Amino acid sequence: MATRSEGEIVEFSQVDSERFGVRVARAHVEAKNFAQVLDFCAAEQINLLIARCSTKELATAQKMESLGFLLMDTLVYYAFDLEKRAIPDDSGRAHVRSFVPEDKTQIETVAAAAFAGYHGHYHADPRLDPRKCDEGYASWAVRSCTSKEVATEVLVAEIDEKIVGFLTLRLNRPKEVEGVLFGVAPEAQGIGVGRALIVSGLESCKKQHAERMVISTQVTNVPVQRVWCRVGFEPAHSFYTFHKWF
Ligand SMILES: CC(C)(COP(=O)(O)OP(=O)(O)OC[C@H]1O[C@@H](n2cnc3c(N)ncnc32)[C@H](O)[C@@H]1OP(=O)(O)O)[C@@H](O)C(=O)NCCC(=O)NCCS
Repeated sequence: MATRSEGEIVEFSQVDSERFGVRVARAHVEAKNFAQVLDFCAAEQINLLIARCSTKELATAQKMESLGFLLMDTLVYYAFDLEKRAIPDDSGRAHVRSFVPEDKTQIETVAAAAFAGYHGHYHADPRLDPRKCDEGYASWAVRSCTSKEVATEVLVAEIDEKIVGFLTLRLNRPKEVEGVLFGVAPEAQGIGVGRALIVSGLESCKKQHAERMVISTQVTNVPVQRVWCRVGFEPAHSFYTFHKWF
């Protein structure tokens, strides 16, 4: 979680370190900065490096493998071009609105249920406590409500005045908004809540005059990709996530 600041190559992750009780760093590895990333980890006595590497950088990925980096997941990004495509209608049952601070507890509950045992890179690492991995998503949802660095907007979906789903958004740069965390309570899945949230996310992007909305997930998370494709998102690019324990 604790995504790197825009433009940073490698940085210490306070949130991950506190959660897992080891020194964790996160990096965006390319051939040209790999040595710098490894030097940082040595200098900062990092125990676990979470390293993203573009799937186009196959030689770098193979170099990482040869040094004992283990593949944990593959992230696929989708984009919706607001200048080219119209936002579809949504006629589902859910009512979507911006969150208010009183919603935080319900959002935490929905996140905990939606992401229990989720197949992301944390859960894929046998050295990380699965309960702490679960906690990570709920805590990320809460931090999205309290820190503008984590999310610039949080949308909630209600049915009968009960929150059943949420979508967090972050302004990456003036023309691009990213959907960051997205979940629907298990009992409300499959009835169009996810679609309603994504359509509302796009409406919010339009209001902010963004040109595109991007969003990502594990390549294995087919249900969510189907929701995005139906709304009009298209595949954009992808990253491997490696963990390296030093
Ligand atoms: C992925 C996720 C957010 C999707 O939310 P959702 O509310 O279930 O999504 P939707 O209901 O809009 O769409 C899912 C299915 O419901 C169907 N559906 C959509 N609107 C519907 C409606 N009005 N009536 C009946 N079914 C409907 C869709 O066709 C789709 O079915 P199919 O793919 O089996 O054909 C949710 O499953 C979830 O929280 N999963 C766990 C966490 C997760 O994976 N988060 C995303 C990480 S990026």
